[in-house]
Amino acid sequence: MKSINIALDGPAAAGKSTIAKRVAAKLSMIYVDTGAMYRAITYKYLRVNQPKNIQHLIDDTTLELTYDEEQGQLIILDGENVTPFLRENDVTQHVSYVASQEPVRTFAVNKQKELAAKKGIVMDGRDIGTVVLPDAELKIYMIASVEERAKRRQLDNEERGIDSNLEQLKEEISKRDTFDMNREISPLRKAEDAITLDTTGKSIDEVTTEILSYVSKLN
Ligand code: C5P
Repeated sequence: MKSINIALDGPAAAGKSTIAKRVAAKLSMIYVDTGAMYRAITYKYLRVNQPKNIQHLIDDTTLELTYDEEQGQLIILDGENVTPFLRENDVTQHVSYVASQEPVRTFAVNKQKELAAKKGIVMDGRDIGTVVLPDAELKIYMIASVEERAKRRQLDNEERGIDSNLEQLKEEISKRDTFDMNREISPLRKAEDAITLDTTGKSIDEVTTEILSYVSKLN
């Protein structure tokens, strides 16, 4: 499916990246995790002590995406692979603020548009169907209950050897969603022509199959 782009949006921890990776692999497409780009910029923002002038920070930043057979997408920030640090708590806590800033969005969205120009991309995020790829051939808006999203995130964390509290996860997820939905620039919302897919109670296989069935209906 080299001739189409798929946009996958939705709130935090809805399972977008897991599903996007699967769908991309099944269709021999390339998966792009846009959240990781915002996380990388946030990582730098924290490393240089939260500067007031974010435009300067961006002017002084290079960001590239590369792909590794085993590890998948890698984010190279100013020449350094920062992928291992992007899920750190501190980054998660500040990413919504950093991602709400105009210079950051312009920088990231331009890169994302460039990546998708040749098609064959499955891209997940918050504004992919609305802003980055308004012409994507398929747009999915993935949702799930906060309870289920927090449980999935807890399992993810367990697999990575990180202990986490369910109530705290629920709070963190809800807070991030509220911020992302209410920011001025490109807030999280469903594109008018997106298909809503509620993944609550559904397995990864079921959701993947559902999306593949939408793809097969494209003409
Ligand atoms: O998808 P992930 O949870 O890694 O995204 C981290 C944060 O990056 C989101 O909470 C949101 O603030 C921001 N983001 C965004 N636009 C995107 C992808 C992520 O604003 N397309």
